[in-house]
Amino acid sequence: MKVVVAITGASGVVYGLRLVEVLKELGIETHCVVSKIAKRLIEHEVGGYDLSGMTVYPEDELEAPPSSGSALFDAMVVIPCSMKTLASIANGMASNLITRSADVMIKEGRRLVLVPRETPLSPIHLENMLRLSRAGVTILPAMPAFYQKPKGLGDMVDFIVGKTLDSLGIKNDLYQRWGERVLKVR
Ligand SMILES: Cc1cc2nc3c(=O)[nH]c(=O)nc-3n(C[C@H](O)[C@H](O)[C@H](O)COP(=O)(O)O)c2cc1C
Repeated sequence: MKVVVAITGASGVVYGLRLVEVLKELGIETHCVVSKIAKRLIEHEVGGYDLSGMTVYPEDELEAPPSSGSALFDAMVVIPCSMKTLASIANGMASNLITRSADVMIKEGRRLVLVPRETPLSPIHLENMLRLSRAGVTILPAMPAFYQKPKGLGDMVDFIVGKTLDSLGIKNDLYQRWGERVLKVR
């Protein structure tokens, strides 16, 4: 399996960094794109990052492999996904490597998962999400659940990353599933 992970300039860049870390642990070929603003948010929110050993492209490297359907990526995740990038994808504006790669996934009928992070959501955000959902894109908001009784930020991040992996059909035990909890209680 070959996956593109894009990190954009929404709050919650830790979700994207954690997803990349887990994909690496799982030995899944991962190509990363980090937007210009995401780089600044990474500095601000987590104080830097280490994607050594990963293939990482800047957003303006439009000639990178994910720009073409012929590169045969199986799936793409934009995590976190800013409302600007989401709006661009919803409107077919393939002006950087992130939006072009997403455009490719949609036109090729491959899996695309967006993890938006914004609150509150305007009618424009919601209409863009509906449009994408109708085009077969998975909208997986960065909304951690609480039924698994998270012990801290790490558990909350892993819940969203685990749900994202579920969407890609990648087995993981990053969060406690409801059925498992019921079994443990009994
Ligand atoms: C500190 C900070 C936090 C931001 N948080 C969000 C956010 O949570 N969601 C969002 O949609 N945009 C957020 N933005 C705005 C985006 O960074 C902005 O729209 C940017 O153009 C997104 O570009 P990109 O999608 O190419 O990374 C934030 C900006 C800053 C400076």
